[in-house]
Amino acid sequence: MSNTAQRKILVTSALPYANGAIHLGHLLEYIQTDIWVRFQKSRGHACHYVCADDAHGTAIMLRAEQEGITSEALIDRVSRDHQADFARFGVGFDNYHSTHSEENRYFSELIYTRLRDKGHIATRDIEQMYDPEKGLFLADRFIKGTCPKCRTEDQYGDNCEACGATYTPAELIDPVSAISGATPEVRGSTHYFFKLPEFADFMHDWINDGHVQPQIRNKLLEWFESGFNEWDISRDAPYFGFEIPDAPGKYFYVWLDAPIGYLASFKNLCEREGIDFDAYWHRDSEAEVYHFIGKDIVYFHALFWPAMLHGAELRTPTAVNCHGFVTVNGAKMSKSRGTFIKAATYAEHLNPEYLRYYFAAKLTAGVDDLDLNLEDFAQRVNSDLVGKVVNIASRCAGFIKKLGGGKLSAHCAEPQRLARFIAAGDEIAESYETREFGRAMRRIMELADEANTYIAEAEPWVLAKQEGREQEVLDICSVGINLFRQLMVYLAPVVPSMAEDARRFMKLDTLAWDSRQALLLDHEIAKFKPLMTRVETDRIDAMIEASKEDLVEERKLKEAPRGPLTDDPIAPEIAFDDFAKVDLRIARIAKAEYVEGADKLLRLTLDIGGETRHVFAGIRSAYAPEALEGRLTVMVANLAPRKMRFGVSEGMVLAAGDDDGIYLLEPHSGAQPGQRVR
Ligand code: MSP
Ligand code: ZN
Repeated sequence: MSNTAQRKILVTSALPYANGAIHLGHLLEYIQTDIWVRFQKSRGHACHYVCADDAHGTAIMLRAEQEGITSEALIDRVSRDHQADFARFGVGFDNYHSTHSEENRYFSELIYTRLRDKGHIATRDIEQMYDPEKGLFLADRFIKGTCPKCRTEDQYGDNCEACGATYTPAELIDPVSAISGATPEVRGSTHYFFKLPEFADFMHDWINDGHVQPQIRNKLLEWFESGFNEWDISRDAPYFGFEIPDAPGKYFYVWLDAPIGYLASFKNLCEREGIDFDAYWHRDSEAEVYHFIGKDIVYFHALFWPAMLHGAELRTPTAVNCHGFVTVNGAKMSKSRGTFIKAATYAEHLNPEYLRYYFAAKLTAGVDDLDLNLEDFAQRVNSDLVGKVVNIASRCAGFIKKLGGGKLSAHCAEPQRLARFIAAGDEIAESYETREFGRAMRRIMELADEANTYIAEAEPWVLAKQEGREQEVLDICSVGINLFRQLMVYLAPVVPSMAEDARRFMKLDTLAWDSRQALLLDHEIAKFKPLMTRVETDRIDAMIEASKEDLVEERKLKEAPRGPLTDDPIAPEIAFDDFAKVDLRIARIAKAEYVEGADKLLRLTLDIGGETRHVFAGIRSAYAPEALEGRLTVMVANLAPRKMRFGVSEGMVLAAGDDDGIYLLEPHSGAQPGQRVR
């Protein structure tokens, strides 16, 4: 530690919903938070970073039902997927939990009963749309109908996409349940409310007290002008969530127990690691608590959540740090344009640390949206990380091997330059601390430019050809490595995996912030291996294509015909010549394998009489790979190769199939691989 005392810091990112995959929009938040946390840890502070899946609510319940599995099975699977995605992107949570956990039940009940016992909970009967077929009260977004104003059909819940009118679902003409298609009825039921208006003064003071960014504060103040309603915190059964203690058949609304999930995940960590939970959460705690969130969920975090905590006699957050939304190539992420990019799809094509750097380079402490311009992305990563930073090490390492036997010079030829690089760390730290990551990256790249200029002007490669100047060359390159080391200390929170490789290359124990103070003299380094390669634009194109295919897969899932095959009409007639163009061959399945990351595909190696083809077939649900090897089938042998997410498919095997099953075609015995089928 330098001159600052050790801080106790608890950091959270918003809890992602357990019914969908992590995409690049989410990642902005987790990467922003992770960079900040890694920076705090590098500075030697006690910093804990927790998150969890947000597992409750109607959407998750319905999704599980659609997939024919229990809600528990769904949230387990999604949690594993989420954690795998986060790990790929270097997001290093200290704990990843679930809101569907005993800790969360405990804290939800605790906070609720404290609020209730102090009179902050009201009950009231309300009328609501009810789906008689499903036996379910319908949230606005689950009701469709004709707009009462402009008469456009098929409009959702409470507003019309065609004319912009807002209304209550009861005003819709011919309303139907979007879940079952039944005509909803109006039914009464008792609901539980958190009496927010009682906290108006408290919330007003809180948002004026420096806990939120100025733009957010202004936005929230507008809200005060229109006044507060009580907040409906109950939902009727059936609901996937926690039952309210004194109210059988009533469940906590998902947004009530979601933020409490922060406490639950932290509690789970505390139990595991012996951390004092109360030191962070009791009312007069001196620890710092930060929530990182997107601007769409600011009301919950900057108004309701502090009010809940305050009412339950717990401390409120030090700050709620809001960020803007990710756009891609200047527009909202779009499935059809292939710019709705899942984390897993990105990671199959590109190095996650490119994205971490790009986001860092563009992040500020503000709430403006952040555009991922893919051309700029490639250009920026290539010119900064590869062209500037890695270049320093790669220019110097060879000479150190050759002239110093792998050891740096015993003295520093540029002490003042190094002193300046070290001093710049204070300013860079300030930028990290205040979440001005873009400013930090610009300063680091200025230093990288300076280091490159120094080496370029010193021209060690020219001196190396002159006799008797070996020591000079070694001195220059040793300065180069020392400058590189400073830069890697500064960049480590952003590119942890590259930094780890750099740390091994320089044979250092740590890249912690203060370790940079001691120069590397007479210090051995390892053989240099490239620390980062250039972004290749064809990988970006492949990622976009793969994202379009993700959409095709999703559509298939949603729109697959449900009924018997006779519902599937015969395609328009074709000429015999058109059919004759299709070259069908008997194929022997030489090998069948699972495809990592694809739950529908098998990769088949086909023998068509001396020629081998690889095809991907969507038959995994019906066949174990072992059961297929050695069997004969029929393939389209002259289909143009198709680039798929997992590789190129060189043809297609024929199978019958619908929702009820998949049946690979098989010839009568005696057919030979390679034989033409006509
Ligand atoms: N489950 C709630 C949060 C509960 S926190 C107690 C939720 N989940 S979410 O999966 O929809 O979003 C998780 C976080 O990702 C939110 O902070 C949200 O703002 C953020 N983002 C989701 N899409 C985003 C972009 N396109 N761009 C930037 N952030 C985005 O909300
Ligand atoms: Zn309308």
